[in-house]
Amino acid sequence: MLAGVGENVKGTLILKGIDESRLHAMDWHVTTIPPPMSEILSALHSRYACKVFDASKKIPHETWQQLEESLILTPSSFGLQPWKFLIIQDKELREKLVPHAWNQRQVADCSHLVVMTVPKVLGVDYIDANIARMIEVRGGTADALTGFRNMVVGFRDGLEAKGGLEQWAKLQSYIALGQFMLAAALLKVDTCPMEGFVAAKFDEVLGLEGTGYTTAVLCPAGYRSEDDRYAVLPKVRFEAKDVIEHR
Ligand SMILES: Cc1cc2nc3c(=O)[nH]c(=O)nc-3n(C[C@H](O)[C@H](O)[C@H](O)COP(=O)(O)O)c2cc1C
Repeated sequence: MLAGVGENVKGTLILKGIDESRLHAMDWHVTTIPPPMSEILSALHSRYACKVFDASKKIPHETWQQLEESLILTPSSFGLQPWKFLIIQDKELREKLVPHAWNQRQVADCSHLVVMTVPKVLGVDYIDANIARMIEVRGGTADALTGFRNMVVGFRDGLEAKGGLEQWAKLQSYIALGQFMLAAALLKVDTCPMEGFVAAKFDEVLGLEGTGYTTAVLCPAGYRSEDDRYAVLPKVRFEAKDVIEHR
């Protein structure tokens, strides 16, 4: 019985290959969604960590441009944007990365592989570059931003003293990861967030040594293969009462 579940929700689940008789087990997370299901929730339900990409399918250029913009638009602490996103389509290069990604084929079979890299050391020059960009985009003067600059430099110095700069930058890159996955899901592009890789080896193969950047997290994007059995599995999530508290 699917009391309270919108027809489109049911349709989405059945489209995902989920037998109607198994839907009762999922009622906890679908019954709270008023019909019709919003585009965003529909995308979030359809999104899954793609295990098998169809290597023959490529993301169209216009779609990819939107996904790149979603990366650029990622928010970050103080707006510092501590990242560079490497977009890798070179098949040979991606094959070289597979053994360093726990042999996970998504790295080679996706359409576009996003390697999110972060600076290992974030110097004051990084902050100044950000301030210069603020002035370029919004106008104003460096003098007017002295207070802001001092605050950010103080924050940076504190992180450096604790040896936490790289870890902080990695946390920021995960915001890009989440935003990218959602944008992709809305555009019906499949993704797989991936931490199953050896960063030092990625840095070596990608020639990052000496650049000051290191690999933080990966996100292959493309289109699921019909053989990916994970595409049709129900989501495993704790119930709302276990993870959400209202006060
Ligand atoms: C940061 C992060 C790292 C992950 N690393 C991998 C990975 O290396 N390989 C993989 O197949 N899935 C990976 N996953 C996918 C998770 O296993 C998956 O998101 C989780 O089981 C929930 O399933 P769903 O995304 O399909 O809803 C990762 C997920 C996250 C968020």
